[in-house]
Amino acid sequence: MQLATNLKGQSFLTLKDFSPEDIRLMLDTAHELKRQKKSGQPHRLHEGKQVALLFEKTSTRTRCAFTVAANDLGVAPEFLGASDIQLGKKESVEDTAKVLGRMFDGIEFRGFKHSTVEDLAKYAGVPVWNGLTDSFHPTQILADFMTLEEHVGPLDGLKLVFVGDGRNNMANSLMIGSAKMGVDFRILAPSELHPDAALVDLARATASETDARITVTDDRTTALMNADAIYTDVWVSMGEEDKFAERIALLRPYQVNSQMLAETNNPNVKFLHCLPSFHDLNTVTGKKIYEEYGLDCMEVTDEVFRSEHSVVFDEAENRMHSIKAVMALTL
Ligand code: CP
Ligand code: NVA
Repeated sequence: MQLATNLKGQSFLTLKDFSPEDIRLMLDTAHELKRQKKSGQPHRLHEGKQVALLFEKTSTRTRCAFTVAANDLGVAPEFLGASDIQLGKKESVEDTAKVLGRMFDGIEFRGFKHSTVEDLAKYAGVPVWNGLTDSFHPTQILADFMTLEEHVGPLDGLKLVFVGDGRNNMANSLMIGSAKMGVDFRILAPSELHPDAALVDLARATASETDARITVTDDRTTALMNADAIYTDVWVSMGEEDKFAERIALLRPYQVNSQMLAETNNPNVKFLHCLPSFHDLNTVTGKKIYEEYGLDCMEVTDEVFRSEHSVVFDEAENRMHSIKAVMALTL
């Protein structure tokens, strides 16, 4: 496989930094790497390189996607959890970045402040990949767009609705990605949880060049009419665990259920979720929610999550193929 070299050496912090052509290249590369993986064709494109995987916050998909993708590319991954290294505690982000950059060929970071991943990229001298911050989750968007291309069709003009906490990292990143790729993107959320106005302005400025549409509303009909896909995420993101009561009160009417799917008027509407999901409460946190609030699910019903509309596990698998594409193109 002949890899394009125009993204070589670049960090991947948010989709703001990439053109629609760059994003198209990442998606095409991801689809091709998926095809190769399925047909058993090896693609050890970066044999002998080594990458550091830094996780301040927990992860299943992102950690595993980076690990498997790295191994498939011939790259050795080293996992460094929150309590394993000095970062930000005994040593500045700047110094840690400089040290890791002397040893590794690339660095993934998942954590709280977006400025941390920016500082790592500023000082490391090697590509840094954002595996989620409080503000953005850009690798997730590549997997989401791959999945939409597989199950719905071209992104241009595709009607995608994000329902829920409209100011979280997922809503922010989907909005930017949609603006870049010509998507008719709608955020359906209560006004208290609408995204930052400056980010909406930025997305709309981009949208004016790509024919994307960016709508932020609390009106169900405006948001849901003829939607191709509904996307939701947890009501309380990592780091906000004190906000369950407030979010449940605000977001209960925005739960994705069969009634909401019907309101799209599209019998083939797809359901996406970045996961993990509270579609049942069969988890430690979930049991607490059930006992305190009497809910048996939160952002999506178990019925919708398990229905034929749901493409969430294809989406989860695509995290690996798309992260592999990002690493392959930037290393
Ligand atoms: N979607 C996602 O980022 O999942 P993890 O938190 O498990 O990595
Ligand atoms: N908004 C969620 C996304 C998890 C993949 C969080 O930040 O916890």
